[in-house]
Amino acid sequence: MALLNDLEWRYATKKYDPNKKVSQENVDKIVEAARLAPTSSGMQQFRIFVISNQELKNKMVGLSNGQQIVADASHVLVFAAWDKYTEERIDSIFNLTSKERGLPSDRFVDYTNRLKAIYLKQSPEQNFTHTAKQAYIAFGLSIAQAAELKIDATPMEGFNSEQLDELLDLRSKGLKSVLMLPIGYRDEEGDWLLPMKKVRNPIEEFVTEI
Ligand SMILES: Cc1cc2nc3c(=O)[nH]c(=O)nc-3n(C[C@H](O)[C@H](O)[C@H](O)COP(=O)(O)O)c2cc1C
Repeated sequence: MALLNDLEWRYATKKYDPNKKVSQENVDKIVEAARLAPTSSGMQQFRIFVISNQELKNKMVGLSNGQQIVADASHVLVFAAWDKYTEERIDSIFNLTSKERGLPSDRFVDYTNRLKAIYLKQSPEQNFTHTAKQAYIAFGLSIAQAAELKIDATPMEGFNSEQLDELLDLRSKGLKSVLMLPIGYRDEEGDWLLPMKKVRNPIEEFVTEI
């Protein structure tokens, strides 16, 4: 129930108070929610960049259709997914899992061979469609965690991902940006969306019980 109250409370904040900053402790919790997210085969096919540098945030406004949110928010989290699967990337997480669980190093060989047979046959574009989907799941959990802390957040995909990749030098890391999550504290007076009713499809239209 508490989660539902938090989800009622949150909204896609349109105006932040630039003077209010999120504490490092709370930023860490919002990132941790994403790190704990379930992912396909547990591969965590994405990374998060936490941006608080004002100069960088100002530059990001220009590639976000002029959305001032990005500059005024306390931090901007950028969710960036693997540009493609590689043998090393697939092996890496299963090597870690074997090590952490004290399992034989060949414990996951059959499984990783099956994953490689699927993903390494696909195009990088098909791979990225899959890796980006994993980022969306984590993104949702970060949004919920922020709401639980009464921290505002704005889910954003309204930006030029190629320009952002260049600005953050993501290509060299084998990553492509998927989503942005500005977080901070709402400007109570200046945000036109704050007094508006939250609108969702009626439950009877939304759900089918069979
Ligand atoms: C994937 C995604 C991308 C979004 N991109 C933007 C964006 O670029 N700018 C913006 O102001 N809102 C953006 N939104 C916010 C949605 O418009 C908003 O979540 C939706 O209208 C529901 O309203 P609520 O979040 O206030 O409940 C995005 C939401 C999602 C989930």
